[in-house]
Amino acid sequence: MRENRLVGAQIGCGAFAREQHLPNMASMGDVCLKYCCDPVAEQAASAAREYGAERPVADFREAVADPEVDFLTIATPHDQHLPIIQSAAAHGKHVFCEKPMAMTMPEAFEVIRLVKHSGIKFCVDLNRRMAPSMKALRERVHRQQASPRHQPWRYVETDREELPEETHTHLLIRIQDESSSYRMIHLDPAHGGGQILGESVHWLDLACWFFAPARPVEVTAWGGVRMNHGINLKFDNGDSATLDFSSCGTFDFPKELYEVTSRAALFRNLFFVENRYYGIPGLEKEVFPLQHDDLRSAIPGEGFDAFLAKSQARARQAGENLRNVPQRLVVDKGHRNMMRGFFEAIRVNGRTPCDEYCGMQATLLALLAIQSIKTRSTLPVLMEEWRPAIV
Ligand SMILES: NC(=O)c1ccc[n+]([C@@H]2O[C@H](COP(=O)([O-])OP(=O)(O)OC[C@H]3O[C@@H](n4cnc5c(N)ncnc54)[C@H](O)[C@@H]3O)[C@@H](O)[C@H]2O)c1
Repeated sequence: MRENRLVGAQIGCGAFAREQHLPNMASMGDVCLKYCCDPVAEQAASAAREYGAERPVADFREAVADPEVDFLTIATPHDQHLPIIQSAAAHGKHVFCEKPMAMTMPEAFEVIRLVKHSGIKFCVDLNRRMAPSMKALRERVHRQQASPRHQPWRYVETDREELPEETHTHLLIRIQDESSSYRMIHLDPAHGGGQILGESVHWLDLACWFFAPARPVEVTAWGGVRMNHGINLKFDNGDSATLDFSSCGTFDFPKELYEVTSRAALFRNLFFVENRYYGIPGLEKEVFPLQHDDLRSAIPGEGFDAFLAKSQARARQAGENLRNVPQRLVVDKGHRNMMRGFFEAIRVNGRTPCDEYCGMQATLLALLAIQSIKTRSTLPVLMEEWRPAIV
């Protein structure tokens, strides 16, 4: 601690650290970034320069050994997460870790053991559950389930009773991604693990959060284990989620679309900037501010159409590489809220918004999905795997 500010170290100063971790910490007055650690000296030095960290270092162990440091934020390749968590736990440093928390179940159990025995706070950045638009979507679904409302023109057959499956809720997640952007490290089985472990953990976690306290009991997956795939999760109350992930799409259109059907209503989340509701009297839409919008004055407006117009205008300026465009346009997928929740948990000694058990569960479901694809079969999520007893 320094003057009541939590003192931290950024471990891994690559693309994602610069996209979210570093600017988010810089925007929080109660946090002080002391170290930027990266084995690539220029990465550590430039991140430290840009975000005001005193000490750029190559070896994260220097930061971990510093008694002033309270927490680490980890944004390294997947296979580097565990050794850093081991070292942090040994020195009592709290950890904010990028997804996936672990690539195998033994690794996940090791993280749980380390957190339990060290008493540190641990948070995995499975961020979608912290997006304001997702929270609003879930809240609207819950309200409809608790007290269903319908349009006056709804046709209802009166000579039969409601059947049990008519009370179930379904979440459809459609991802269209552009595979040309994937680096070898994402695809290498030992380092990245492919898109199910590397990316789909986001939506497996989101579905679990969405339907909690129901728990998933069955996984059926199809397609390939590296890129294009689909996953269906069944929950113990009859609810279900289906993910359709295609890597053959385009960055010219937003990557994510969510649709929930429940109690004769449709709830759509349009890339975190707009929710649309159908079938409920008086409820049409809600819009959500972007996390970062450099085109606010050039193209005013909010919601999905305005976002699309901004994103197309930005792409037109790109010339040969979208990454070179200086204007930032970032929708609010919950990253900042997740980090905020982590710091709050440290301060009040509370629970983090996505703890080591959530991280383990996302890894478990991803591994079951991979196994389901390989064996062309539906697999159970056993209670003892979902809530393992770990000494
Ligand atoms: N939550 C999300 O939405 C989201 C989005 C993108 C990436 N990520 C995650 O962020 C992490 C990093 O991804 P990225 O795209 O920034 O990768 P990147 O390759 O751009 O950056 C990783 C950085 O870590 C550094 N590094 C490697 N080993 C290290 C070590 N032992 N100590 C310190 N630094 C080390 C590398 O030199 C590199 O600069 C991954 O876990 C990825 O899954 C999360």
